[in-house]
This record gives sequence, structure tokens and C-alpha cells, in this order.
Amino acid sequence: MYTLEELEYIVSKCNRCELYKGRTNTVFGEGNKQAKIMFIGEGPGYYEDKMGRPFVGKAGQLLDKMLEAIALKREEVYITNIVKCRPPNNRNPLEKESKICIEYLRWQVKIIDPDILVCLGAVSARNIISSDFKVTTDRGIWVKKGKFYIMPTYHPAALLRDESKKRGAWEDFKSIKEKYMEIKYMY
Ligand code: URA
Repeated sequence: MYTLEELEYIVSKCNRCELYKGRTNTVFGEGNKQAKIMFIGEGPGYYEDKMGRPFVGKAGQLLDKMLEAIALKREEVYITNIVKCRPPNNRNPLEKESKICIEYLRWQVKIIDPDILVCLGAVSARNIISSDFKVTTDRGIWVKKGKFYIMPTYHPAALLRDESKKRGAWEDFKSIKEKYMEIKYMY
């Protein structure tokens, strides 16, 4: 079993798919290494690629606010993505790119050992829950897979594009907080 630091180093050298060619930095993920809850986005955007950190652009600022609204700090949770290198022009990661990179996510999950996974957006949910996942019908509903409680919700960038989705997102985040409190005090 690798440590998180060893895995981060391996990822920083990765050239297993074409995305490495366009990256400035890999974006491994950050936060509490023993987090009970992990937020998983799609892949780095422009600012994340420049800084090597997840969710630091506009969508990230909104994610911070949403976490704040349910009294969670970034330092308390772990935040990462399906792919660790920025896809060109922020396109969705291709299936083959996600398939390769999700192996790193699996290792991260094994090491950190969270109980709750939050899928931010359809790309994340399709890779983690089911390939035919649809945000419009399937978000906001807990999925139990093995030991994990998985909540698929909107990607914060989708909320920036369409304010009307914020009400649903708020319901999802309240439910996330409830489950988090339940789990935190169970052990
Ligand atoms: N969007 C994502 O899916 N992940 C990030 O890290 C930033 C924006």
C-alpha cells in the first residue's frame, strides 16, 4: 500500500494518457488525509492546472461557499477529481482517460478511507455510480455501494450557469451534512 505522498509523486510523473502533454501541473487533490467525506469533481480547469490545486477557480469559490453553508471547512474534507490533468479547453475527460485515471482515485479512496463520497456533476457520477447516470433524474438520491454512501449532486459550475438549480443543490448539501453528522458520531 502506498502512502498518499507516494501516490501523489507517482501521479505527478504520470503519462499513461495523452492529457499529460497539456498540463502545467497535475492536480492530485487536497484536504484532510483522514476525511470521512470526499468531494469528487471532474477534472482540473485553467486555474487548477496553473496552481496544482483542485477547485480554486470560480466553481471552487462556489464550492467553498456551499461547504461553509453546511459548516464544513475545506481542511476537514478531501477534494479531488476523476482526472488529475486538465483536459484541453476544459472538455469532458474521454472515457479512456477517466478509466485510466480513476485507478489513482481508487488508491486515494483506499488510503483516506472515507465513508461518504460526493459526486460533483455527471462525469463524476457516471464514473463512480453508473455509466447511465442522469443529473436531472438521479441527483440528490443516496446510493450505497459497498461501505460507501454516495451522493450525486450538481457540479458547482452548473449552478453558476443556471441559478435555478441552486435550490436542489441546497437540499443535497443539507442531506450531505445530515449523513456526515450521523457517521461522525457513530464511531
Ligand atoms: N471543476 C472540476 O471538476 N474540478 C476542479 O478541480 C475544478 C473545476
